[in-house]
Formats: sequence, C-alpha cells, structure tokens
Amino acid sequence: MRVLVIGGGGREHALVWKLAQSPSVKAIACAPGNGGISGRANCINVAADEIEDLAKFADKAEMDLTIVGPEAPLTKGIVDLFKQKGLPIVGPTMAAAQIEGSKSFAKDLMKKYGIPTGDYRTFEDHSEALDYVKKKGTPLVVKADGLASGKGVFPCQTLEEALRALDQIMVQGLFGEAGNRVVVEEFLTGEEASFLVFTDGKSVLPMPACQDHKALYDGDQGPNTGGMGAYSPAPVVTPQLEKRIMETIMIPTVEGLALEGCPYEGVLYAGLMIENGEPKVLEFNARFGDPEAQPLLMRMTSDLTEVLAAITRHELDSVTLEWDHRASVCVVMASGGYPGQYQKGKLVQGLEKVVVMKDIMVFHAGTEINIEGQYETNGGRVLGVTSIASGIASAIDLAYEAVSKISWDGCYYRQDIGKKALKRQG
Ligand code: AMP
Ligand code: GLY
Repeated sequence: MRVLVIGGGGREHALVWKLAQSPSVKAIACAPGNGGISGRANCINVAADEIEDLAKFADKAEMDLTIVGPEAPLTKGIVDLFKQKGLPIVGPTMAAAQIEGSKSFAKDLMKKYGIPTGDYRTFEDHSEALDYVKKKGTPLVVKADGLASGKGVFPCQTLEEALRALDQIMVQGLFGEAGNRVVVEEFLTGEEASFLVFTDGKSVLPMPACQDHKALYDGDQGPNTGGMGAYSPAPVVTPQLEKRIMETIMIPTVEGLALEGCPYEGVLYAGLMIENGEPKVLEFNARFGDPEAQPLLMRMTSDLTEVLAAITRHELDSVTLEWDHRASVCVVMASGGYPGQYQKGKLVQGLEKVVVMKDIMVFHAGTEINIEGQYETNGGRVLGVTSIASGIASAIDLAYEAVSKISWDGCYYRQDIGKKALKRQG
C-alpha cells in the first residue's frame, strides 16, 4: 500500500513511524512533514490545508490510503473532496467535522442527545452576550465558536475578564469569522482526560485513556498551549469510568451524528472533565490529539494500517485493537517564548545520544534539516520525547533521562509531565 499522511507535527511523525511498521505499507508520503519525518517518508511541499493540491497529488501518486492529522483540512472538506474522486481517506466529512469546527454545533448535538456537558448559551449579538454574562456572573468560560488554533477559549474568574473576552472576540474580531458566534459555558472543575476512539460510523473502538498537559508551566499554570506533554494510560479513567464514557458519550455521539445525517468516520476525540467519577465533555476534536497520539501510538500493538483500511471499508467490527500494557510518557520540548513569539533556526544538539536509547522515540514537530544536514528548530513545539516502560514512574524517568541529553538555545519543557498519575497511584 501507498499511504499519505497529512500534517507536519509530532502527531504526524508518530503516525508515519507506526504506519511504517505495517508489512502492507510499501511507501509513505507526508504533506508537508518536517525534518524528522523526512527520514521515514517522502515529504511533499504542500500545506496541510491546500486540499485541492493534496487531492491532485494523491491521485497522481496513486495513494491507497490517506490519513488526516490536523483539523483545518477536515473542516475545509478534504474528506468530501477525496471521496468524490474515489480516493480512500480516513477522517470525517466537512459536515461531521463541525463537531470540532463549531463549538455551538457540538453543544447543540450534546444537548439533543443527552450527552453530559456543562450548561451553555450561544450568542451572535454582543449586547445580548454582555447582558447574559452580567446576569449569570463568574466563573464562566467564553469561547469563539469556530477554529482558533486553541486560542479561542477564555476561562474567566471575574466579570472584567469575561467582558474583555467578549470584546476581543465579538468587537475586535481577534479570531475573524470564527468569532461571529460565541458560546458562554459553565465553568467545570475536576481533572481533565483525553478519550479517543476509532469509528467507521457503526463500530466504536476505544483507545486507552490519556492525559494532556495544556498549560505552559508546571502545576498547570500559565497560558494554554497545544499541549506540553501527555501520558497513557491515565488512571483517572478507571475501567468502570471507561465503560461509562463509551456508553454515555462516545457511542451516543457517533449515533447522534448519524441520525443528524452526517455519519462520522475516523478518530473521534473527547476532551473530558472528570469530577467525582462523573465525566462531562469540554470539547470534541475530529482527529488524533497532539501530543496524545504520541504515547497512544507508542502503546498500540495492532497494525494501524489495517485499522485505518477497515474504517474506509466500514468493516471496523472485524478489528480487535491491541495495546502494550506498559505506560508511555511524552514530554514536549518547545522553543522559549512559545506559545507567544519565539525564534527559529536553533541547532538541536544531543539527538544522537537518544537514538541509541531503548524504548524511546523522539517524534519531531517543529524541526527542519539545514544545508549541513543538521536538525534546526522550526516551530513552537519542537520535539515530543516519548518513552515506554513498565509503569508510569519508570516511563517518566526514562523520558526525562532522554530529554536531559537534548538541548538548544532557549529550549523549554515542563518538569512535571505525568505527576498527576503518580499522585493517583499514591
Ligand atoms: P477546549 O479547546 O474547548 O478544550 O478548551 C481548552 C481548555 O480550556 C480545556 O482543556 C480546559 O482546560 C479549558 N476549558 C474549556 N472549557 C472549559 C469549561 N467549560 N470549564 C473549565 N475549563 C474549560
Ligand atoms: N492536545 C490537544 C489537541 O490535540 O487538541
């Protein structure tokens, strides 16, 4: 098989690495890929959201399967386009991808099908939103409805913060059209977890639970990022809770989307808040999480290509997913200044000391290879250093041992990835 991976982050490096292990895979292309991916796949110089050019490439290069990493091409309709052209692709259609692309669509769907989530109201008029927020009082969460690269969510502890968020989204237009509508939500408390499933629209197969670390600094302080690290399994999701998440959230969501006339295929990701054993949905994503994909794929022992191909044939019921029972931890190493402004072009040192380590993979996100053949930083999140070991404590130690060997000017990472799991284990 010839496989195309769309995207160029750590998630896509992990996908390429995992797909390359399938005996049926003869060639892998990645658009646009990155410095690390170029060692394992043919990187194509087409951006992930140039969907027409991607379809032309997939057609000409006779790709047997395409998997989409990021959300932007999904909400632009890449799956619809590929399917029109008879090109096999894994991911939701534009209509189904609204579950990530429009927060009000996701909330209305959850309300209609009784899926547990916080109370909310949707507004298109600034003064109506203002009146509601003033009446309701804080804490609450103000969200731009559309895609905003993870920056459109404002948890507000004071009225002043809420008013500022509404002003930035609805008056100043900080997120363009994504802010034409806002969702004002109940502020949920508890512990977060990421829960992902594969689905072909009928069968829904869970992946092990994992946990992201969204905040920039240790102790979940500071601004939100794309994710500074992740681990799996996440002990906050007990086997009973997993059953409950499947029965009350994942299966009803897939069934609800089908009833709405937009059946969902691909990876469906629920960001959950768990309090006193009760899971509530914070958001849905229409794809693998990043960094979550890195520890998850590290633990997956099934043939990923077979799973994805079964989704395109609507035969996921014939698949049993298998996972390594060990724990995996991914520590994201980022450019100093991320998620704000940061410099690029810093020489990455020490990778050769980690390549020889057992049970460690360094997935590249923002890297490129310079003319001397060395890796340089080329983005905010640069590397996902991902370990696998018998337990969460040893996986943490192994990941940080590898991290300590890698450096560049201004490199930053959190020191406490996985700590919450350790605390739970006592
Ligand atoms: P989202 O992109 O909707 O997942 O939001 C990003 C982050 O904002 C989440 O991972 C949470 O940490 C936080 N968040 C979002 N919605 C809520 C909510 N209703 N209550 C509390 N925190 C939230
Ligand atoms: N790690 C969060 C996300 O992929 O959206």
